[in-house]
Amino acid sequence: MRVVIAGGHGKIALLLERLLAERGDQAVGLIRNPAHITDVRTAGAEAVVCDLEAASSDDVAVLLAGADAVVFAAGAGPGSGAPRKDSVDRAGSVLMAEAAERAGIRRFVQVSSMGAGQPPQPGAGEVWAAYITAKTAAEADLHTRDLDWTILRPGGLTDVPATGRIRLAPPPVPAGTIPRADVAAVIAALLDHPGTRHQTLELVTGDSPVATAVQSIP
Ligand SMILES: NC(=O)c1ccc[n+]([C@@H]2O[C@H](COP(=O)([O-])OP(=O)(O)OC[C@H]3O[C@@H](n4cnc5c(N)ncnc54)[C@H](OP(=O)(O)O)[C@@H]3O)[C@@H](O)[C@H]2O)c1
Repeated sequence: MRVVIAGGHGKIALLLERLLAERGDQAVGLIRNPAHITDVRTAGAEAVVCDLEAASSDDVAVLLAGADAVVFAAGAGPGSGAPRKDSVDRAGSVLMAEAAERAGIRRFVQVSSMGAGQPPQPGAGEVWAAYITAKTAAEADLHTRDLDWTILRPGGLTDVPATGRIRLAPPPVPAGTIPRADVAAVIAALLDHPGTRHQTLELVTGDSPVATAVQSIP
């Protein structure tokens, strides 16, 4: 399977690239900074420079030719303000989805966030509100697309090693955390289970092995 990952130098993306390479899949990481090429290659993926805030959907559609699936794992990141939540977390996902449609790549896994899908909590702060608004809009855009999308909403991300034990279910799942390594494993499993298309799934650490949890999604 050839999988194009937007945000290819992100922490989840690099873990996912390793998992895909280990199982014999071909990962392609879209990155904006050429200095990240070596890291992406070291993770076992092909690196392609593509700034999601500058590219057109036609540009991206060309890059998607021959892919079997797209993963949106980009994000403006913790140091960014409200405008980049919109230009990366919302518009970057819209760009990838539009390009996937144009290129005829049906499978699309979007990394969203728990908290999306509802208005931001009052008093949560301007940047958090912009982030949740952007993620919610990106999800809403996917709902309109003729794609086999799965929306994955992880809880708070940590960098501890994978536990391999998760709770994965349609919302609402009680708030919690999840290692990025487990998120990467779930994305890899979702790519293998197109039956999860048109599902929105929340993800925190739990009791079920990843494969069992993904297979049990109706
Ligand atoms: N933090 C949390 O607790 C939490 C919880 C739930 C969901 N999430 C979501 O999970 C996803 C992945 O998280 P993560 O920790 O793996 O993210 P990350 O390490 O911050 O990676 C995000 C990647 O997106 C890239 N990016 C930003 N702007 C770009 C652009 N214009 N063009 C191309 N790439 C661009 C960044 O590249 P540069 O290195 O060049 O900036 C970075 O490599 C994000 O969507 C995040 O919102 C986070």
